[in-house]
Amino acid sequence: MARINSPKELEELRQKILSQRDPNKPCITLCSGTACHASGSENIAAIFLQELEKEGLKADVDFRRTGCHGFCERGPIVVIYPEEICYLQVQPEDVPEIISQTIKEKKVIDRLLYADPTTGEKVTYEPEIPFYKNQKQVVFGTNRRIDPTSIEDYLAIGGYRALAKALFEMTPEQVVNEVTKANLRGRGGGGFPTGRKWETTRDAPGEPKYVIVNADEGDPGAYMDRSLLEGNPHSVLEGLVIGAYAIGSHEGFIYVRQEYPLAVENVYIAIKQAEEYGLLGKNILGSGFDFTIDVHRGAGAFVSGESSALMTAIEGRVGEPRPKYIRTAVSGIWDKPSNLNNVETWANVPLIIDRGANWYTSIGTEGSKGTKIFSLVGKVNNTGLVEVPMGVTLREIIYNIGGGIPGGKKFKAVQTGGPSGGVIPEKYLDAPVDFDELTKLDSMMGSGGMIVMDEDTCVVDVARYFIDFLCDESCGKCVPCREGLKHMREILDDIVSGRGKPGDIELLEGISRIMARASLCALGQTAPNPVLTTIKYFRDEYEAHIEEKRCPALVCKDLISFYIDPSKCQACMICGRECPVGAISGGKGLVHIIDQDKCTRCGTCFDVCPARFSAVRKISGEPVPEAIPEAERVLARGK
Ligand SMILES: Cc1cc2nc3c(=O)[nH]c(=O)nc-3n(C[C@H](O)[C@H](O)[C@H](O)COP(=O)(O)O)c2cc1C
Ligand code: FES
Repeated sequence: MARINSPKELEELRQKILSQRDPNKPCITLCSGTACHASGSENIAAIFLQELEKEGLKADVDFRRTGCHGFCERGPIVVIYPEEICYLQVQPEDVPEIISQTIKEKKVIDRLLYADPTTGEKVTYEPEIPFYKNQKQVVFGTNRRIDPTSIEDYLAIGGYRALAKALFEMTPEQVVNEVTKANLRGRGGGGFPTGRKWETTRDAPGEPKYVIVNADEGDPGAYMDRSLLEGNPHSVLEGLVIGAYAIGSHEGFIYVRQEYPLAVENVYIAIKQAEEYGLLGKNILGSGFDFTIDVHRGAGAFVSGESSALMTAIEGRVGEPRPKYIRTAVSGIWDKPSNLNNVETWANVPLIIDRGANWYTSIGTEGSKGTKIFSLVGKVNNTGLVEVPMGVTLREIIYNIGGGIPGGKKFKAVQTGGPSGGVIPEKYLDAPVDFDELTKLDSMMGSGGMIVMDEDTCVVDVARYFIDFLCDESCGKCVPCREGLKHMREILDDIVSGRGKPGDIELLEGISRIMARASLCALGQTAPNPVLTTIKYFRDEYEAHIEEKRCPALVCKDLISFYIDPSKCQACMICGRECPVGAISGGKGLVHIIDQDKCTRCGTCFDVCPARFSAVRKISGEPVPEAIPEAERVLARGK
């Protein structure tokens, strides 16, 4: 690789790369993001390469591994350019057919296409699949077009053009002003204005100044940052170098959790490539600006994503928060001014510099500009990563992109903002999603986790799950968070187990108030959110658990019973065979009965009872009907 010494040389290199690429040449792309990798994409890649060789097509057809496309549950995903024919859940045995049919014969293989879950209608081209069609992918869309380990791929799509512009056409102040004008708000949780934070670090006394990428991403169910970093690491690096130039920093860190091996690997590759091309290191692009990056691999603690904890970890100490009498932007790593931004925040920066703040502010709402990537998970047909303009409604995300709730079930609520976010009920489905609107609903944007719940979800159990998670993840340094979470967990455990007492709801509210005000860091300050929102929107469900010992969603094991309706049982013996604890008695021609003392409420009988019989009932808050007398068991059958 030859070093690039000026914006002119960068542009010449880009033109050279483009001139060597024929946009009409067939190119098979295979998603190699973590999820597709786990579904066997490496093996599929090897077979594609073998087949292309065998068929003598290596010179005529390109093959490229890409980053995550977002539609992970349908992986491994293959997209064939230039048409963008999209095949989902591709298996090794499909590869020879893809080569012989689609590449050679130009025929589409129907069974590998996306099928609409309600109409069954097939969709051939990736951008027309509703999951993608209803998104606006300005940050994440590049993932599926480039090989993350190829800097040439990134350069071909205009990569590092924004860096050249910043270094040669703008002063550091102008870069800060452009980001401020774009009103870019931090994507890591709080939505703090990025330009203002940059200015604070820039103006703070003390050298050196540091810039940091926060790729800790500890929220359960969230994987936007991982997919961005592993799928397009150069976009994050480019944003970081631009930010460093604007702030006056010459040393940066990427804090990435060790459990993200592919992201770590691709980041190292990207750094090496950028250094070799002179886009990192000394005298970047011949501008005289120097900047180096170190990768810090985090130990995988949720609390270490908090700014002061993360910086303490980079210093080589245990990643626990400390009191922030002075903000980390002024006094961070080794007490030096340190600017921390989230992965997605950094990836937005090159777009703002390249296309301008006016373009950026044309997307989004008054107070929240640009797009946001969400990880849409839970009880929704299409799970995956979705990028939408700020301001679209929850309904649009869950129904138009997510395809609605599986199995014709009813939507109940959506949890936004990760473990410290809130649970939003159905009546707010038309609420626009942006930083301020979600806060008005007592939830928050957080880093972008979105967990959809259907009518079979118990919100008290959900609150207990998040409190349990946070209790385990609390560093324990401050009393309100350490003891408050423990106490909350005990109360919620009691409620879901049928030991709830009058006054428990008020006690939870009281502890929440103290934790929110007195905890050391935002983990403890925001931890009560799932409890407070579920109490606010679903108080009747808490009351049912406490007063009637009833779980309305029929989820909490200690409050439900399974019972076989003798008038429906056909004595097919399936439940008896499948029950793991032998709690079901019965036989051929004999109505089955569940021994309530032996039953562990695992629900296997309920799941295996054929739908045409539906003889197993799940009940809560009512006594289990008396078992029919032995003498009537045969007679009752078929009634
Ligand atoms: C307990 C806790 C965990 C956090 N984890 C993350 C994280 O994994 N990634 C992240 O970007 N921000 C996380 N944050 C927010 C960071 O403290 C910080 O606000 C953010 O990285 C700043 O970047 P931004 O301005 O670009 O959002 C966390 C905050 C708390 C309190
Ligand atoms: S990893 Fe392939 S679509 Fe996400």
